[in-house]
Amino acid sequence: MPKKSIIRTEKLCKSFSTGGVQHHVIKNLDTEIYEGDFTVIMGASGAGKSTLMYALSGMDKASLGKVHFADRDITKYTSDQLAIFRRKHCGFVFQQVYLMDSMSVMDNVLTAGLLTGQNKRELNKRAQSLLEQVGVGRKLWNKFPNQLSGGEAQRVGIVRAIINSPDMVFADEPTGALNSSSSDAVLNVLTEVNKQGQSILMVTHDMKSARRGNRIIYFKDGTIGGECDLGPYVSGDRARHDKLRNFLSDMGW
Ligand SMILES: Nc1ncnc2c1ncn2[C@@H]1O[C@H](COP(=O)(O)OP(=O)(O)O)[C@@H](O)[C@H]1O
Ligand SMILES: [Mg+2]
Repeated sequence: MPKKSIIRTEKLCKSFSTGGVQHHVIKNLDTEIYEGDFTVIMGASGAGKSTLMYALSGMDKASLGKVHFADRDITKYTSDQLAIFRRKHCGFVFQQVYLMDSMSVMDNVLTAGLLTGQNKRELNKRAQSLLEQVGVGRKLWNKFPNQLSGGEAQRVGIVRAIINSPDMVFADEPTGALNSSSSDAVLNVLTEVNKQGQSILMVTHDMKSARRGNRIIYFKDGTIGGECDLGPYVSGDRARHDKLRNFLSDMGW
């Protein structure tokens, strides 16, 4: 079955003006991101990976060109319309988790869920089940964010990002601030939610994280320098690992 596109860009451009000098970070990009995929964006530091993610998710506006998200042209949206669109359709995970310090773990998750007007009982059930799934057990639900480890906080952040069943989860270096075992736990959660059908777009500069994706896009010189179809993640698959390594080496990584 052909894959269904969820995001499609048309001659997407993003530039920044600093000190009167225009800096073109995304240049005439035509691409598609597919439903159900775990898409990974890699590239050198400063290549524009975060900028691309922000433009695709409506966190930031394109300078020129279009972004179609599930058949909506989000480049036409006002800032208010974009905020509503993001809340309904996108989930975000960043390197730093921004949980509300004054709220318990459970309230952090529920508050995000209530923003879209979900039924309270259903929401509670979903929050509990998701937290259990990511290994944040009942005894942590009434704790406050400053009582969690970095990995626990990031897993709560992922639950918060998926509580509204967004069309796409955007993750910008979600394991960038974590140690190796916490990284694995967070990546396992992302792999699992993707298996359950959640589309994911993740930026990373780390090969171990990138291996989780089925499609790797290498962003370079303002556009896609190349891409690699890895197929679904299988733990410890040597051939898959070598394919990714060779691809990255071809890209000059
Ligand atoms: N808000 C901004 N204002 C000015 N320049 C920016 C802004 N955001 C990003 N840039 C510039 O765009 C380029 C790409 O940044 P970024 O997307 O963060 O790269 P990456 O995520 O690949 O490391 C960098 O040169 C950065 O300095
Ligand atoms: Mg970045």
